[in-house]
Amino acid sequence: MSVVAPRCESLITVERLGPALGAAVSGVDLNAPVDAATFAAIKDAFHEHLVLLFRDQWLTPAAQVAFTERFGPVEGHPLKSRRALDEASGVHVLENLPGHRGGRNDWWHSDISFGAIPPALSILHARAIPEGGKGDTLFCNMYAAYASLSPGLRRVLDGLTAVHDARKLIARNESVENDEQPIALRLPPAEHPAVRTHPETGRRALYVNDYFTLRFGDMTEAESRPLLEFLIAHATRPENVYRHRWRKGDVIMWDNRCTMHYALYDYGPSEVRVMHRTTAAGDRPR
Ligand code: OGA
Ligand code: MN
Repeated sequence: MSVVAPRCESLITVERLGPALGAAVSGVDLNAPVDAATFAAIKDAFHEHLVLLFRDQWLTPAAQVAFTERFGPVEGHPLKSRRALDEASGVHVLENLPGHRGGRNDWWHSDISFGAIPPALSILHARAIPEGGKGDTLFCNMYAAYASLSPGLRRVLDGLTAVHDARKLIARNESVENDEQPIALRLPPAEHPAVRTHPETGRRALYVNDYFTLRFGDMTEAESRPLLEFLIAHATRPENVYRHRWRKGDVIMWDNRCTMHYALYDYGPSEVRVMHRTTAAGDRPR
């Protein structure tokens, strides 16, 4: 456990959740305005640990938006794939309810990487979770995934782009396994570097994922698939993963520029899981 007081006035406690990534932050109430010193300490912890957990927060939608805004403009989902709250349009609701199945995310992904400028970070607030430890979310460290490749493969990837699109997400929303609305909107595919430099830490992270990355630039899908499969398997080895067991009231924020996540779908269609989700805008991947 480490106590971080970078600007003296703030005293939050930051405790690692595991060796790969993730830390729990205590000593802050996110429903109240976060002072500058505390915010700076949270940001430092976020850059070091990539995923932050705040327990026992009962955030109002307005407070969730206000906290997210500190990191960047709060955005809606470009495909409007989920319901937004009437009272806070920046808050999306991921819900699995009797008679309404939705919010499945059981693919390794980085949020909205099919967009031209994907969100920097996402924040999820657990309002209801299934009994018995179901519906965990897994996170993996994409800095470590890149750094642990051979120099030869790193050099190859440094010269590649990757093409991302939303076709699997659209197909899932429209399939019988889901009761979400069909997605009417379409976006052109986005091409991003396969390895990106984090704009704030300057560190290099692998930037491909299993949900949205279709192929490498100037390569076919068939040519790309074996390397993509290798990279996803490499990045998601258990040693590189933190698995979060949710408690009601948890708030988790993750950095989409240097992590992937996967929401386990190990609960039934009538089990209740409700999450409030916000995202803060990012930069064009470079
Ligand atoms: C998301 C997501 C994971 C979860 O909101 O982008 O992938 O555990 N959610 O619900
Ligand atoms: Mn996601």
